Amino acid sequence: FLRSFSHISSQFTRPSFGIAFDIDGVLLRGDAPIGGSPQTLRKLYDDSGVLRIPYIFLTNGGGFRESKRASNLSEVLGVNVSPLQVVQGHSPFKHLVNRYENKLVIAVGKGEPAAVMSEYGFRNVLSIDEYASFFDNIDPLAPYKKWTTTKGANHEKTIADITEKKKICSERVEAAFIVSDSVDWSRDIQVLCDILRTGGLPGREFAHQPNLYFAHDDLEYQAAFPCERFGMGAFRIALESIYNRIHPHALQYTCYGKPNPLVFHNAQAVLKLVSSIHQSKGAANTEAHHFKTLYMIGDNPSVDINGAIQAGSPWFSILTRTGVFKGRENHDKYPADLVVDTVEEAVDYIFKKEG
Ligand code: G3P
Ligand code: MG
Repeated sequence: FLRSFSHISSQFTRPSFGIAFDIDGVLLRGDAPIGGSPQTLRKLYDDSGVLRIPYIFLTNGGGFRESKRASNLSEVLGVNVSPLQVVQGHSPFKHLVNRYENKLVIAVGKGEPAAVMSEYGFRNVLSIDEYASFFDNIDPLAPYKKWTTTKGANHEKTIADITEKKKICSERVEAAFIVSDSVDWSRDIQVLCDILRTGGLPGREFAHQPNLYFAHDDLEYQAAFPCERFGMGAFRIALESIYNRIHPHALQYTCYGKPNPLVFHNAQAVLKLVSSIHQSKGAANTEAHHFKTLYMIGDNPSVDINGAIQAGSPWFSILTRTGVFKGRENHDKYPADLVVDTVEEAVDYIFKKEG
């Protein structure tokens, strides 16, 4: 990713502030830019497309590798985004690689969850689509689903296929990672319960629960539809409710993502890196850089604003009205430092304040 900064000007002087942009409900709704986001982001670059202001995308969303997400954001928003600038809900999963080494882990969610985990260094990872396809009749509703994957249980033709199926079905799953929103809740809840209550061997007797990780716990988020849509937190509630009815011990799990203040501390470190790479034209400069203010621009009071409040100084929170929050005044429980209509208004305010 360092090469992505080779266009950075040597004239770049480090500003004493940086910006973290939420994506859904601030910059995009579905795939469409909102709130003047393309022209707003262009203001962070000079006339020749060189970055002037250190900024990152700090989203709970995901499902694609940071490099792929960066290209997609570059295309949709019309600016040159580096993978380093993309921090997704699942990005911290990379720190768990050593715990699992060659052990089998399952990746759940829309997009390319297994490719995400492989890029982080997991060596033995299967998407839940592929994993489920190795078990005959694990999902009794599969015949009614047009999108069921073709590899696996009912499609083995060669000795190698049969051997692979036997191997996968008898290999213990050590952990399940919810990388992005589940596409097929009924199948995923069924198969996850099978994995979790049997110690990672679906169809076998009850055993100790394997580890379960969620990239975030957003109950709802703002997509293209006018009202909010159910997020990973809603899926977590559904899975947990069912698991706790069928199992004597409550489901154990870990959630990453905003509003955890650790996400904001990590964002600060990434912003420092972005800033230092700019200054030294492509090579990371480890010299400490002090930000007086870091701006979090978000649309969800209980996630973006709550997280910035918990993280404390130097975070300054700005709440837009383009997403989950639709009120006129500030939010009661998680009041932002500033409430504006759009991301463009937020950045204009920052420029005015920072001179
Ligand atoms: O699934 C994505 C959603 O929960 C939140 O995305 O960009 O608003 O943090 P974002
Ligand atoms: Mg959002």
